[in-house]
Amino acid sequence: MKRTHNCGELRKADENNKVVLSGWIHKYRNLGGLLFFDLRDRYGITQVLFDPEKNSSEIIDIASKCRNEFVVTITGIVQVKPDANRNLATGEIEINATDIRIENESLTPPFNFLDGRSDAKEDIRLQYRYIDLRSEKMTNNLLVRHKVSMSVRNFLSDKGFIEFDTPTFSKSTPEGARDYLVPSRLYPGNFFALPQSPQIYKQLLMVAGQDKYFQIARCYRDEDSRKDRQPEFTQIDIEQSFVTQDEIFALTEGMFAELFKSAAGIKIEVPFERMAYQVAMDNYGVDKPDLRYGLKLKNITDITRNSEFKVFSGAPCVKFLAIPELENYSRKQIGKYEEYAKHLGAKGLAFTKLIDGKLEGGISKFLGEAEINEIITKAELPGNGMIFFGADTENIANKVLGAVRIRFADELELYNPKEHKFCWITDFPMFEFNEEENKWDAMHHMFTMPKPEFLQDLKDGVNLDKILGQLYDLVGNGIELASGSIRIHNSEIQEKVFSILGMAKEEYESKFGAMLNAFKYGAPPHGGIAPGLDRLVAVICGEDGIRDVIPFPKTKNQLCLMMDAPSEISQEQLDELSITVKK
Ligand code: AMO
Ligand code: AMP
Repeated sequence: MKRTHNCGELRKADENNKVVLSGWIHKYRNLGGLLFFDLRDRYGITQVLFDPEKNSSEIIDIASKCRNEFVVTITGIVQVKPDANRNLATGEIEINATDIRIENESLTPPFNFLDGRSDAKEDIRLQYRYIDLRSEKMTNNLLVRHKVSMSVRNFLSDKGFIEFDTPTFSKSTPEGARDYLVPSRLYPGNFFALPQSPQIYKQLLMVAGQDKYFQIARCYRDEDSRKDRQPEFTQIDIEQSFVTQDEIFALTEGMFAELFKSAAGIKIEVPFERMAYQVAMDNYGVDKPDLRYGLKLKNITDITRNSEFKVFSGAPCVKFLAIPELENYSRKQIGKYEEYAKHLGAKGLAFTKLIDGKLEGGISKFLGEAEINEIITKAELPGNGMIFFGADTENIANKVLGAVRIRFADELELYNPKEHKFCWITDFPMFEFNEEENKWDAMHHMFTMPKPEFLQDLKDGVNLDKILGQLYDLVGNGIELASGSIRIHNSEIQEKVFSILGMAKEEYESKFGAMLNAFKYGAPPHGGIAPGLDRLVAVICGEDGIRDVIPFPKTKNQLCLMMDAPSEISQEQLDELSITVKK
């Protein structure tokens, strides 16, 4: 008995054929002696029937012993069902079993996934991931992931890109997150670092004349996990020599159009919209705006400087968010948003309502006529609505109203979750000031070339907050899907950036010596981008987080519950590595 078909394959045209199927018992029913199995494998589900009037008692005995998730092989004849099951691709037929072999038994599984996805808590799903991945939804997500990878490889290879491997044991360099470290046995006290991305290697491949690089690359970052962040994740890492930003955009757009089509049959619109960083911050409060809905933030600082309302006049920036309708929103509902705003660092979330062309309730009584008119005009509400204010530094007003905007859009379902809206965010500042550490940080990473008109300021070390970089993000549905830049390929400019970021010569030479040296041996101009594969697949699969598109992800607390990792190691291993653990 060797399988002739898979469980998603048989149709009406196979009627009366003798077939052999292998798979898992998805659902097991005993209807007054008639035994029905839904037999499942990666390809689908086929109904199998055992009839005591047709099958020998021996066969019925074996079939009766079966339970959910037993692995069996059955032989039988394809019959057309009188009443087709429209929910199954194989729903027109069933198999009248003539023989059965139990390949393996199963304990009762810890959860069900009868509707195509598991009904269990995520921790249980992750502990028993090998069962969770049997569900239709997870199986499909992993198939989409495979198709995306294949599509990327074909697309880039056709365009002349070559896939390179770069090392996993690398050198610790400050790239933003904490490094994962690997102790060196032969050099006690020395460590390799796992790469946060192959950034330096891909640039060195450009210096090496390789022209067009890509890699579906694993990256490692020791930072707090979130639903769209894993300590190890995968990038579609791309780099090209003699390239412009426009060419990288066109390449990425072509690749996205192709992979959405081939992995999920989704047609997306290209080219993508472009928006300067400052425009995104002004209108949406965030650098990754979800453009599936409007709700732009409005700035009224000019008019509130002299407000009677102290909350407004005392703040360096006043912005508001107008939400259509909602005039019956209760105190309690508003209170929830106020709490949320405070949690994000606001002092409050002042509000008022626009009812029949007039501001009513909330803070309206504190506002002068000019302010009221300005607010009503700028709100651009088609009818009644609610207006929420952020009065604070520009950063906090943006952060709070930007987040409130997203929460309202989710709560009021202001967008179609099936729609996809992409946007390039360009013209980011090169540097941002880190108040806590009183130093400049790189906005993206320290290898980004400034826009040509700011090169002199960079060399002179002046107007640092105004310098814009040749760097860009690709945002899809409010998620940062990719990031990239045109790179510095000149060691002097690179050294200048290192020193602006607070590194002494000895420090950057010890950390980035290879790169600085390489730049002295004929480095071509180059640039690139890295879409996050996990986030991209999650968007295509309509999943809220990336854990559902990674076969074996870590939990929110960075554990692998299935393997029980991380775990302690033996004293012997520690000794070999010359490591003492502080308890
Ligand atoms: P960046 O750090 O922005 O850029 O990362 C690029 C993209 O990778 C994805 N990503 C993540 N996905 C899951 N979990 C994480 N922890 C995580 N961190 C990042 C995001 C992000 O847009 N070397 C540069 C790229 C370049 O300049 O070419 C880099 O790593 O989708
Ligand atoms: P108060 O005068 O402090 O009672 O505040 C009046 C209203 O303004 C309340 O709804 C507060 O939530 C709100 N509020 C206070 N400070 C701010 C602020 N900085 N930004 C936005 N709203 C605020």
